[in-house]
Amino acid sequence: MSRGANAFISFPDDFRWGAATSSFQIEGAHDLDGKTPSIWDVFCREEGRIKDGSNGDIACDHVRLYREDVALMASLGLDTYRFSISWPRVIPEGTGKVNPAGLDFYDRLIDELLSAGITPMPTLYHWDLPQRLGEQGGWLARDTAYAFADYTEAVVSRLGDRIQTWTTLNEPYVSAILGYVTGEHAPGHTDRASGFTASHHLMLAHGLAGQRIRDIAPDADLAIVLNFTPVEPASESVADVAAAERVHDTDNRWYVDPLTGRGYPAETADHFGWDQAEVLDGDLDIISQPIDVLGINYYTRQIIGADGQLRLPEGTPQNTMGWELHPTSLGRLLRWLTNDYGFRRLIITENGAPMPDGDRHDGQVADDDRLAFIRDHLSEVHSAIADGCPVEGYLVWSLFDNFEWAWGYGPTFGIIEVDYETQERRPKKSADWYSAAIAAKGFELPETPSVYRP
Ligand code: FCB
Repeated sequence: MSRGANAFISFPDDFRWGAATSSFQIEGAHDLDGKTPSIWDVFCREEGRIKDGSNGDIACDHVRLYREDVALMASLGLDTYRFSISWPRVIPEGTGKVNPAGLDFYDRLIDELLSAGITPMPTLYHWDLPQRLGEQGGWLARDTAYAFADYTEAVVSRLGDRIQTWTTLNEPYVSAILGYVTGEHAPGHTDRASGFTASHHLMLAHGLAGQRIRDIAPDADLAIVLNFTPVEPASESVADVAAAERVHDTDNRWYVDPLTGRGYPAETADHFGWDQAEVLDGDLDIISQPIDVLGINYYTRQIIGADGQLRLPEGTPQNTMGWELHPTSLGRLLRWLTNDYGFRRLIITENGAPMPDGDRHDGQVADDDRLAFIRDHLSEVHSAIADGCPVEGYLVWSLFDNFEWAWGYGPTFGIIEVDYETQERRPKKSADWYSAAIAAKGFELPETPSVYRP
């Protein structure tokens, strides 16, 4: 690893370069072969939930097109592909009978990836809870955590012979807070107390599933993916600093602390009057059993004022969803997780940006802004590695333009453009750049710093 005279930065030989997606956002085939609705299928059908009124019925039609999609990944040179498994495809009733046809799809996908030389990295839960379980309380019901462990067992027993890293949950923060407190995501509840209950049951689900993975696949690595949004106070005032701390506790420490045996941030639990009644004896031990790898999703930072709300300074570069573009916060985050928590293995499991994607050159989306975003974040990863952070890889979000939850198909995160009329895929300029960086195991830094289009 070196920073040469020509400003070429190179990454370790075994650094993993890949891309990520999730089942609901790309698969389509919403009722194929016995799959039942997930809470997202139902949520999308509720008036006003999704900005463009869309749903995931077809999305990128990936269940039908997975062979072509894997060929495309191989042509870019990706060595790792992170995807998620749809629980209602595998256990349509949420508990009980396994649907072999549902598992067959993932079996074929994994074989296809392996024969293309790509390491499959599945996530067991990326928000598409079976609606049947939603009707029984969803993540407010403790039983859902046990049902998740049974589902995990079914999946790992069938596919575990070909998987090196099992990821339990994607972003429990988003499931709990956007799903149960702000109501922006399925199931759309708006109650703070429910958010605490849901977050604990999610973390418990991670722990219980982790135990099953250890039993069934003792040689596999156990991972969880957490999203982190570093926080800074808008000023040094006591009120701003206190509010920023609180947001840091609820958004970041709430998950990584219990995971590492520190329990839930006590002061913030008190502040919100959470009595922790749902935390039963032994739960925190289950939650804090050691993992092997921490997956990190990083998109933006937050500057917080005394009222706990975002303060985005005028002219701040941001993406089309209004999130500040701030690469250096990724480096800071990696140093914090390494130095304060002592993680020994980290992987960036999501990082990317929705950009305007308006410019074309010879028909190709000329997404110089996304290219710069990816390059600048990789460059932060490179410096963090040089400082001793054990980052093993980088997976861009996302491989494709896809269904962006409450935003529908508006924001485009893909390095590959998807024409939803024809299902044609077209790599953008950022994909070509990424592919060249993968081949060279590094890239040239530009002479002038990036200017992002606000
Ligand atoms: C993350 C999600 C992912 C995608 C990106 C933009 O929170 O894990 O599915 O929506 O945000």
